[in-house]
Amino acid sequence: MSAPNKSYDPVEVESLKPEEVDKARDAALAAFAAAADLDALHEAKVAHTGDRSPLALANREIGALPPHAKADAGKRVGQARGRVNQALAARREELEAERDARVLVEETVDVTLPWDRAPRGARHPLTTIGDRIADVFVAMGYEVADGPEVEAEWYNFDALNIAPDHPARTMQDTFFVQAADGTPDSGVVLRTHTSPVQIRTMLTRTPPIYVICPGRVYRTDELDATHTPVFAQVEGLAIDKGLTMAHLRGTLDHFASSMFGEGIVTRMRPSYFPFTEPSAEVDLQCFVCRGASVGDPDNPCRTCKSEGWIEWGGCGMVNPRVLVACGIDPEVYSGFAFGMGLERTLMFRHNVEDMRDMVEGDVRFTLPFGMEI
Ligand code: DAH
Repeated sequence: MSAPNKSYDPVEVESLKPEEVDKARDAALAAFAAAADLDALHEAKVAHTGDRSPLALANREIGALPPHAKADAGKRVGQARGRVNQALAARREELEAERDARVLVEETVDVTLPWDRAPRGARHPLTTIGDRIADVFVAMGYEVADGPEVEAEWYNFDALNIAPDHPARTMQDTFFVQAADGTPDSGVVLRTHTSPVQIRTMLTRTPPIYVICPGRVYRTDELDATHTPVFAQVEGLAIDKGLTMAHLRGTLDHFASSMFGEGIVTRMRPSYFPFTEPSAEVDLQCFVCRGASVGDPDNPCRTCKSEGWIEWGGCGMVNPRVLVACGIDPEVYSGFAFGMGLERTLMFRHNVEDMRDMVEGDVRFTLPFGMEI
């Protein structure tokens, strides 16, 4: 046999020298041992076993060796790689076990902790009274309607016979919504009452129409004991053939006794709303003095200021102009509408004195109403 061809001698290929292979193996073992977590181990794995790692590069040199040298070099590199892979697997197992143990501790649930200290949530009394009112009307065949709180001025005012220059617009202090380009006059407002739902309903349904709509409304009022810039109303609308003020009166009486108990006395006072003609204000007989304080200076009543009556809401026969705006023939149909404040209803019903209690969200206020979900 001739002497090994020097240029093919594995010992002469730098990366295949035993000490180079040992060095690469030891560097890999040290890097794995030093890896403190699985991410670090992954980096060490790429560096020491990846395609460009010293042992992978050495392995690639073997192919170019003469057959007799291949076995020796192959064994040396193969053993080193085997050892490295074994060490990698062992270290991975260790680190995984450490991670699992840590997660178990970190995510421990202490089942002995008290679980019943957080009070249960419940719906706000204004929501429940709105639902209760809706129930009273659903029992009479009404449907529940709703509309957007960010409303087009046309629905909130124009269609309700409140023209742009109509003084009635100043009756309600409106939040105007600014357009995205900064134009203040966007034609959009936060609805100042639930009456625009009347318009939306008449435009989308055909008579007979019987709807009730509890909802939130907005006006630029300061928050005090009797005002809030965000409050709730309930709107009622009935459109049918032959409806008269007597139907309105009977409906409101039934509504009042459902809310405040049998025997509650109501009265209507002539008033003005652009969307009803004739219009009236609905008062409730004072539930505290039942009218006894009127003309009796010795027994004044704080609740009604000795007037005997408390204002509850507005109502009237739907103005024919409103019917026409909604495409309903006033020669064929007539209708009535009403709008009441839910806060006022809640105040009368439960003797709440300060409106701020209703908006501040303190559970000590809502608790006595029961935790209805
Ligand atoms: N929208 C009126 C307000 O907020 C209340 C009202 C009055 C509603 C008369 C009605 C109505 O439907 O007929 O002041």
